[in-house]
Amino acid sequence: MSTCITGFAHTAFSRWENEDVESLLGMVINPALEDAGVEASDVDAVYLSHFNGGFSDQAFTSSLVMQNSPGLRFKPVTRVENACASGSAAVHAAVRAVESGKARCVLVAGVEKMTHAKNAGELLARACYLKEESRFGSFVDVFAQITIKYFETWGDHSEALALIAQKNHENGMKNPLAQLRKPFTTDFCRTVSDKNPVISGELKLSDCSPVSDGAAALVVCSDDFATSRQRKVRTAGISQVNDYLPMSKRDMSRLEGCALAWQQVFAASGLSLDDLDLVETHDCFTTAELMQYEAMGLTDYGQGATAIKQGWTRHDGKLPMNLSGGLKSKGHPIGATGVSMHIMAARQLLDEADDMQKANARNAGIFNMGGSGVANYCSILQRME
Ligand code: COA
Repeated sequence: MSTCITGFAHTAFSRWENEDVESLLGMVINPALEDAGVEASDVDAVYLSHFNGGFSDQAFTSSLVMQNSPGLRFKPVTRVENACASGSAAVHAAVRAVESGKARCVLVAGVEKMTHAKNAGELLARACYLKEESRFGSFVDVFAQITIKYFETWGDHSEALALIAQKNHENGMKNPLAQLRKPFTTDFCRTVSDKNPVISGELKLSDCSPVSDGAAALVVCSDDFATSRQRKVRTAGISQVNDYLPMSKRDMSRLEGCALAWQQVFAASGLSLDDLDLVETHDCFTTAELMQYEAMGLTDYGQGATAIKQGWTRHDGKLPMNLSGGLKSKGHPIGATGVSMHIMAARQLLDEADDMQKANARNAGIFNMGGSGVANYCSILQRME
């Protein structure tokens, strides 16, 4: 059964001081259904992506999706969690439900409220393997460690990190939904300053995604269910690869789970890297985007810097990466991120990406990562002619 995305809604990613998980969800559920042209009564199942991890006192959030949408009452709603990849976990669960024939129309929502927390870094660090990695006070510390390992193995590529940060902020300037709509020059990103302090190890402020609030929702349908609807984007393939949680059991100079997830999604879709017109990739830290260039096969291991230095991943390059601004500029409200990535890719394929638009985009890749390369999800979305 072929599946497609038919509609979506997306709050700005921001510091939403007066909102909570419930009200953020309320901003996207009905708008996504309306955008897809479906009634709540058409929905066979709902998947909610919400990491929580201590950010929300309100646990057990699945049924909050129906607070403003009584038509969803008595529907099966399941909350899914796979750290920063929870959003793709929800999208993939919906795609599988439709592919299996058990559902024809599935609503996916993702949400996180983080900016109120005084201990955001500490809460996020709980997604590490605590028996060995409790020394990390934040995920910045985790990726600082990974950056050291990468530089030890492949050389100092801090210039590439600065170029990636500059690119994603430049892209984010064109996205009204982005949290950090600030142009950062490469010189600013490569230099430690009062405005760009070291956060941990080799990582400066400009290398990190921000702490964010936001929500996003989309509708996944079977192709035949969606026939009368005007707008749809095909899900050409999905893949998921989980790796060991402890970093001590993995070679942290490369992202092996990410590489395998890309290989599997290419096999599932019958497409190759050369067929992709753009990629939304998980730049929680600039090092992550650099390592993902290598894992997806854009360059050999240790050579990822070439992709950004040659301009391949810029807006006018051969494979634009994070035209939305990525997590770096758009923001990273954990549960909403993977859903947002699918929406940003779908908008490109529908020619609805406004100033972010890449002309004639046919195939869009998505890579969403949970933890330090632990949960790895790839999707390929395709324009329907
Ligand atoms: N990149 C660029 N600028 C940022 C930023 C980021 N990640 N985070 C905040 N800023 C800016 C703010 O807009 C603000 O600018 P202004 O002074 O011009 O208004 C300034 O920096 C200070 O903001 P503040 O919120 O006080 O920053 P902070 O020092 O509390 O937080 C980090 C900065 C990097 C520690 C925080 O963003 C962080 O923890 N990021 C990582 C989140 C994470 O681990 N996510 C999970 C990934 S797996």
